[in-house]
Amino acid sequence: MSFKLRCLAVSIALLVTPAMGAENSPMPDPALVAKGLQLFNDTSVSGGGSVSCATCHFSTGHTNNKTYVGLEVVADGDANGRSTPTLWGAGERSVYGWAGTAPTLEESIRGIIVNRMKGAEPSKENLAALAAYVRSLPYPKNWQLNDDGTPSPIATEAVKRGFDLFIGDGGCGTCHVLPSLDKSSRDDIGTGGKFKVPSLRAVASTAPYFHDGRTASLRDAVKLMWGVYAKKMDTGLVPTDAQIDDLVAYLSAL
Ligand code: HEC
Ligand code: HEC
Repeated sequence: MSFKLRCLAVSIALLVTPAMGAENSPMPDPALVAKGLQLFNDTSVSGGGSVSCATCHFSTGHTNNKTYVGLEVVADGDANGRSTPTLWGAGERSVYGWAGTAPTLEESIRGIIVNRMKGAEPSKENLAALAAYVRSLPYPKNWQLNDDGTPSPIATEAVKRGFDLFIGDGGCGTCHVLPSLDKSSRDDIGTGGKFKVPSLRAVASTAPYFHDGRTASLRDAVKLMWGVYAKKMDTGLVPTDAQIDDLVAYLSAL
């Protein structure tokens, strides 16, 4: 190979290498995920040294179904309270926190450590590990649904009818957009300010509902939401009990 050709080959190799680095790879690095899981259960992350991420999200990343101000459990519906979200599928969300003000998973986790847990500023490496662990948590699969959230051919009739209402008369799909069933924008739906449209994946097991945990049952949350859309669009549609049952059946498959 001539000198010129060799230089060309080296420059091409330099150009190509960074793009093939692990940073942009969709495959989680198992060592980083393992370190993240360890930190997730580590109480020294918090200022007081008694609370870890798993205190509120379990080691699995799911919600403990409690509502908090800081580290204090408060009554569901407390205006300052924030209900603990599940982290299942969080890697696919587009904004974080009920207020929807954290643009990335890393920034969301940093804010929780420093503000909620009063812990020391986390290192870049520890933040990356925690984020990698959270990104490794998929939302549960259900035989009644395709990967994009639409009903599979073998879904029950109730789930199929519920889906039709979800994207049809209920108007739900205009805000809770498939496949993640959230949206990056914030909306004021009359619950006391602007909140992000939360993902509805695994929603049957994330009670209490809404940012402040004001609603204990999924059925009541669905009724409230139907009313919001009907009023906003002036549809005049009032759902029957059977229609609410169908919507709950669809949401329970997510
Ligand atoms: C005291 C309970 C508690 C602890 C401890 C806790 N969280 Fe949370 N987490 C919450 C609550 C409550 C929210 C919702 C906060 C809000 O919206 O203001 C939340 C939100 C989140 C979110 C945003 C999810 C979304 O979709 O908006 C992530 C990510 C998260 N927590 C990860 C963690 C990690 C990682 C740790 C440990 C470093 C941790 N949490 C510790 C209660 C807790
Ligand atoms: C205009 C946009 C919009 C429409 C339309 C809409 N939602 Fe929502 N939804 C939101 C927002 C914003 C929140 C969070 C509000 C809060 O936390 O106070 C929410 C919250 C929820 C929750 C609570 C989730 C949780 O984890 O606590 C459920 C369940 C829900 N919606 C279901 C539905 C259903 C079913 C429909 C259709 C009947 C629907 N939504 C229509 C914007 C919308």
